[in-house]
Amino acid sequence: MREFIIAGNWKMYKTPNETKLFVKEFLALCPKKLQSQFVLFPSTICLPSLHEALSGASVRFGAQNCHYELEGAFTGENSPRTLKEFGCHFALLGHSERRQYFAETDQVLAKKVKTAQTVGLIPMLCVGETLQQRQTGETYKVLEQQLKVALSDHRSGSQLTIAYEPVWAIGTGQVATPEQAEDAHSYIRETIKTLIGTTQIPILYGGSVKPDNALELSKKPNIDGFLIGGASLKPTDFWAIGERSQHRIIDA
Ligand code: PGA
Repeated sequence: MREFIIAGNWKMYKTPNETKLFVKEFLALCPKKLQSQFVLFPSTICLPSLHEALSGASVRFGAQNCHYELEGAFTGENSPRTLKEFGCHFALLGHSERRQYFAETDQVLAKKVKTAQTVGLIPMLCVGETLQQRQTGETYKVLEQQLKVALSDHRSGSQLTIAYEPVWAIGTGQVATPEQAEDAHSYIRETIKTLIGTTQIPILYGGSVKPDNALELSKKPNIDGFLIGGASLKPTDFWAIGERSQHRIIDA
C-alpha cells in the first residue's frame, strides 16, 4: 500500500523562531497517530530548529535541495551527508523554482537523486509542464522526458517519491482539476513502472492546494498526497488540508 504524504514546502519563508512557533501550533492541532504522514521542507538553515522543535513528534522533514556530491569544493552548497546528519528524511529535488532560477537540469537531477539515495535520503522529485507545454499538447512528452532522465541512476531498492507540480498551478491560485491531476498522475505511474518496475511510488500533487480543494483532489486514487507551498505556512491551513484528506491517511 502506498503511503499518503502531506508535505509543506516553505520555500524561503520562516526564520528559526517562526519555525518553532509553527511546530508548536501544528502539533497542538495534529493528533499523534497522524503526525508521521506530514513532512516539512524548511530553509536549510532552519533544519536544526525544526529538528529540535519536533523532538518526540513523528512529523518528518527534509531539505529543499542538496548537492550531487557528498563533499567537495562547492562553495555555498549543502551535502546530502550533512542533511542526513541533521535528521532529514527527504530531499526535495527539481522544484520548478530550482529549474527556473537555478538552471537545474534533468541531468543534474539524476546525479542528485542517486547521491541522495546513497545516504538514505528519500528524493521527492518534482516534475511538471509549463502552461505553454500543456496548451501545445506536450504534457506527457515533458513528463516522460523529465522522469526518464532524472531517474536514470535511480538505485534499485531505494525509496523514492514524486511530486507532480504543473508549473502553471504553482503559486497562481489556479489548481489543476482533480481530473487533470489524476490523468497526469496515472501517466506518471505508468511511466515509472516502465522505468523502474514498480507502481508503489507515492505521487503527490502540488500547485495551489488549499483546504478548499484538498478533499476533491484526495479522492482520486492516483493522488497519494500533496506538496503544498503557500497553504503550508499557516499551521491551521496545513492541518486543515490533512484533516480533509484523512480518509486516505486512515486507508493507508
Ligand atoms: P503553492 O506552491 O501551493 O503555493 O502553489 C506549491 C509548491 O511550490 O510546491
